[in-house]
Amino acid sequence: MYFPKYRARRLRENAVLRQLVQETTLAPHDFILPLFITPGSGVRQEIASLPGHSHLSVDQAAEEAREVVDLGIPAVLLFGLPESKDAVGRAAYSPDGVIQQAVQGIKKAVPSLLVVTDVCLCEYTDHGHCGVVEGERIMNDLTLDLLCRTALSHIEAGADIVAPSDMMDGRVGAIRDTLDSKGHTHVPIMAYAAKYASSFYGPFREAVDSTPQFGDRRSYQMDPANVREALREVRLDVEEGADIVMVKPALPYLDVIYRVRQSTDLPLAAYNVSGEFAMLKAAAQLGWLDGEQAMLEALIGIKRAGADIIISYSAKEVARLLAR
Ligand code: PBG
Repeated sequence: MYFPKYRARRLRENAVLRQLVQETTLAPHDFILPLFITPGSGVRQEIASLPGHSHLSVDQAAEEAREVVDLGIPAVLLFGLPESKDAVGRAAYSPDGVIQQAVQGIKKAVPSLLVVTDVCLCEYTDHGHCGVVEGERIMNDLTLDLLCRTALSHIEAGADIVAPSDMMDGRVGAIRDTLDSKGHTHVPIMAYAAKYASSFYGPFREAVDSTPQFGDRRSYQMDPANVREALREVRLDVEEGADIVMVKPALPYLDVIYRVRQSTDLPLAAYNVSGEFAMLKAAAQLGWLDGEQAMLEALIGIKRAGADIIISYSAKEVARLLAR
């Protein structure tokens, strides 16, 4: 009987061998944990669609930050739930806004934790869009100035990295110029470079109450059908001065992660978004799959596709599992 000399199973014989030939690994330092900041103090209010996550007031966020650092996770990504919303998202760039306060509180409590801030208007506008609205149009260039003010206010509060997620054209360059002109030449920008108009943001929008009041985000976020366009978006952001580029969401876009990995030598982040997290949690709660194993498998898939950094609501759970 013919049999090939090579038997693939030889290297799967036991756990030590398997580990020796493992091509991809997950570590706590691969992760960034998103946090949702809310006004007040002593607030830790569970978010129903994101099990294990809560709206945190600044003092609670500082507590959380200590835990995050102890788990070996290097960074958090902050989102804000402001006291009030208006047409131009003033609370996003107010010097004493909820994010600006949280940055200060977290950096004071845990200086070694990297604080990344999401730069966008949608959590702060009453219409829920990521930019200034005229009629039903989202105005690109009018929005840039407000994004620059937002990014600058985060950095002045002490943030380490800004992450623009609005998908306006030219915002990375505009933010770079603003930061540089104010002496913040050392501050990196993590650009949501290829961000798709995705239904997987559902739980997040519920968490920050940012569902658009009219229309949708398809005039600024990308069409899920396109991948060459993602490469174009990445190229533009790199030319404008991005230090880290991001693909978002992650799991339905592994080919995009792979293609972007081939097209740039910058660090690549992938955002394992709220809906990806929620769907695994829901299936696990129903007993339909092993939640922990499915989560690790999904995350290693994202890493294998080429991501260096994974932004994930599972970061703490993963860090605990990896420590076992
Ligand atoms: C803000 C923003 C969104 C997310 C991150 N930044 C929502 C959106 O674009 O509608 C989604 C994150 C997630 O679903 O986990 N623009």
